[in-house]
Amino acid sequence: MSLLLTMNVKVLTFLFFFSVVSYLLYPYTNSNLDAIKYSETEKEPPTKSKQCAPDIAPFYIYDLPDRFNEGLLNNCSDIDRWKDMCSYFANQGMGQPLNKPNWYNTYQFTADMLFYGRAVNHPCRTYNSSSALMFYIPFYASLYTHVFSHEINLTRRDALGVDLLDHISKQPTFQRHHGHDHFLPVGLMAMDFLRNPEEKDGKTSHGNKFLTLPQLSNVSIPIIERDIYNGKNQFGIPYPSYFHPKSKAEMRIWQDEVRRSERTHLFSFVGGGRMKGHGSEKFRTAVINQCNNTENCILVFCKYWIVTWDAADETLGAMKRAHFCLQPPGDTWTRRSIFDSILAGCVPVFFSDNTAYKQYTWYIPEIREDWSVLIGPDQLDRIEEVLSQIPQEEVERMREAVIGMIPHVTYMHPNASWTEIGSRDVVDTALVELTKRVREFKHNAGVTQENNL
Ligand SMILES: *[C@@H]1O[C@H](CO)[C@@H](O)[C@H](O)[C@H]1NC(C)=O
Ligand SMILES: *[C@@H]1O[C@H](CO)[C@@H](O)[C@H](O)[C@H]1NC(C)=O
Ligand SMILES: *[C@@H]1O[C@H](CO)[C@@H](O)[C@H](O)[C@H]1NC(C)=O
Ligand SMILES: *[C@@H]1O[C@H](CO)[C@@H](O)[C@H](O)[C@H]1NC(C)=O
Ligand SMILES: *[C@@H]1O[C@H](CO)[C@@H](O)[C@H](O)[C@H]1NC(C)=O
Ligand SMILES: *[C@@H]1O[C@H](CO)[C@@H](O)[C@H](O)[C@H]1NC(C)=O
Repeated sequence: MSLLLTMNVKVLTFLFFFSVVSYLLYPYTNSNLDAIKYSETEKEPPTKSKQCAPDIAPFYIYDLPDRFNEGLLNNCSDIDRWKDMCSYFANQGMGQPLNKPNWYNTYQFTADMLFYGRAVNHPCRTYNSSSALMFYIPFYASLYTHVFSHEINLTRRDALGVDLLDHISKQPTFQRHHGHDHFLPVGLMAMDFLRNPEEKDGKTSHGNKFLTLPQLSNVSIPIIERDIYNGKNQFGIPYPSYFHPKSKAEMRIWQDEVRRSERTHLFSFVGGGRMKGHGSEKFRTAVINQCNNTENCILVFCKYWIVTWDAADETLGAMKRAHFCLQPPGDTWTRRSIFDSILAGCVPVFFSDNTAYKQYTWYIPEIREDWSVLIGPDQLDRIEEVLSQIPQEEVERMREAVIGMIPHVTYMHPNASWTEIGSRDVVDTALVELTKRVREFKHNAGVTQENNL
């Protein structure tokens, strides 16, 4: 538990630069919440270029007032006094383009926006709520948390999330199955939404209590880091990385590139240290010292407050030249770096079950040795020795498995054409798993009358 207690730092890093900005830049209108409307009348696209696959159930996207999603973008410049965060939330959450087509400087906390971008054009989306089996609540939970985290009045900090759920839970579509057929993807860690309900003074915390709200208790929450202790309805989804291809062909070219990449080093580490007393200090210190002391490791060291944003080339460059990429816990159990390393075809090395195995079960092979290495506490002081003893053909097998995972942990470009995607990305994979859950729920609840789609 000590790790959890000190884990606020990832968001604190972000919030370190926060300031209370009182001037208002954009006109902002509070739409009336009663405006949550059913858009049956909305025109369905005339022809869908691709059929909905049978293992993804038709889903309905609530048409929420802007202030629950896109409207929050109007406040992006309030998030940080020194850094303009707006560019990170641009392009539907992909951020600014890099120097190669469909590569973007994607920020680690935009999974909910990227999910939305893919879902709106999805062939399984239905505009008719009566023929939907699943219901998507398109809330930009991560942007909401960022925008309101410097609000010291806790009632006001929590208000938007409370408001959303008060109204969603009144919808007949929600009440029918008490939310069991609803889902709400989240692009931040669960701990950012689990503020102690006893807390009275918002001066020392930044999180809200969104995930503790009772109306969410039956709703499925795909999230980049689940609460491994209590998050029964939370399911890990990948952090976004930098590549958002539009076609299977483009994906294949990249997979071939990492397959052929010359791996000159046994292992690498991209990241920073942690201060004394931090729950992850022992892992970070061991990893950095051992990496720094051998020629077989590439160390890309990030000073504590310098975040590894804006460093796609350096990060992926190091990972493409190594066989193994060390993934010690940092401010929380998980790291975006896990998905950067998969993208680079670099076999991830974990130091805790909580970093991936208990998080991303929808996305990872069942047998952990097939694609990753777990360093136990007794091996922490001899990482190089453990890794160098793994036979070469074993390493190659693992790398091939990792390269095979790339399409599934990628957020495809939101404007990719459905006929060219060809493989299931993060969003499709989540929709398949969500479908299984809803069908199982309906089966157990004995729902036979209505659309057993
Ligand atoms: C968001 O922006 C609007 C208009 O600029 C402003 O009224 C509101 O206070 C801002 N919200 C936060 C939480 O900063
Ligand atoms: C996707 O297409 C829409 C409609 O043409 C456009 O407005 C949007 O900017 C495009 N998104 C990206 C990220 O290019
Ligand atoms: C919506 O779906 C229901 C159930 O499948 C169907 O009876 C109804 O006609 C549909 N409404 C429209 C506008 O297509
Ligand atoms: C916090 O905000 C709420 C809603 O705006 C208000 O009713 C309450 O008085 C505020 N609390 C404090 C301590 O300022
Ligand atoms: C959650 O679902 C159960 C039935 O499965 C129901 O009794 C309970 O009231 C639901 N909770 C909420 C908050 O809707
Ligand atoms: C790596 O080792 C060099 C030489 O011993 C030392 O100067 C440097 O500070 C070390 N770097 C880190 C990040 O510990």
